[in-house]
Amino acid sequence: MQEFLKKPGFMVQSGTMGADLSYLLAVIFTVLFLLAWWMAKKGQGTRHHNLIFVSMVSMVVYFVAYYYARSLGVLSLEGKEGFGGPPEVYDSVFMPVLTTHLILVTLGLILTPYMIVEGFRACDKVGGDYVLRPGDLKADPKKFKRIWIWILALWALMEVYCLAMGKSGAAQLAYLLIFATIAGVVGLEKLIEKWLTDGARRHRVLGRITMVMFALILVTSTATYLMLYVIYPVKTVAGS
Ligand code: HEM
Repeated sequence: MQEFLKKPGFMVQSGTMGADLSYLLAVIFTVLFLLAWWMAKKGQGTRHHNLIFVSMVSMVVYFVAYYYARSLGVLSLEGKEGFGGPPEVYDSVFMPVLTTHLILVTLGLILTPYMIVEGFRACDKVGGDYVLRPGDLKADPKKFKRIWIWILALWALMEVYCLAMGKSGAAQLAYLLIFATIAGVVGLEKLIEKWLTDGARRHRVLGRITMVMFALILVTSTATYLMLYVIYPVKTVAGS
């Protein structure tokens, strides 16, 4: 896999297969989300739901697989080897853009499952079609507790798995952070419920924020791609 991703790409001369594939998929996913937004604006709730569901789930699977296989963000943050431009540009432009990109991707990975769950909770099926239901949307406090217990149990299971498989402390810490984030988002819902009491309005407001964020992810990934592979590619010395 690693070897395949390092092969020369198909878009620009200095691109790699990994970079080109990831960029192309990022463009495809963003176009699909914006299309889903347009469908929602036209009142096509069910088509919006179907497209969002398929594209968001495949995007999350792709992101996790991609970052796992290439550790792009981590590698780029570690050193300047992959960047062929002047150090001032690396520090004052490349790093801020890449950091913004990684923060947006992280927020996107949190907001996406949240919005999908919120979408189901805020909708009714009327004549086979999803329709946003106006009115207060509040979760039962007992449900909150049950969800937290499930999260705690799943986290404990993962930690036992890590110990049994002899995984590193870093892997255990990563699982702790992931499950703490999920528990945090569930807790945040309590605050969001107070801020945006109407479920349909909550879906529209947070949905638009999510969509704008996905558009910004595309802008920052385009800028990163252009800087790394078009404007400031690393000049390879012949024979090296
Ligand atoms: C990441 C997930 C999602 C995002 C980002 C999202 C985003 C949005 C946005 C931005 C709107 C309002 C469009 C506008 O007026 O500008 C909307 C409307 C809507 N969404 Fe979602 N949505 C998501 C998931 C879902 C899911 C899972 C469902 C159904 C189960 C759903 C059902 C609807 C419906 C029925 C509308 C109303 C369409 C109308 O106005 O008739 N959404 N969504």
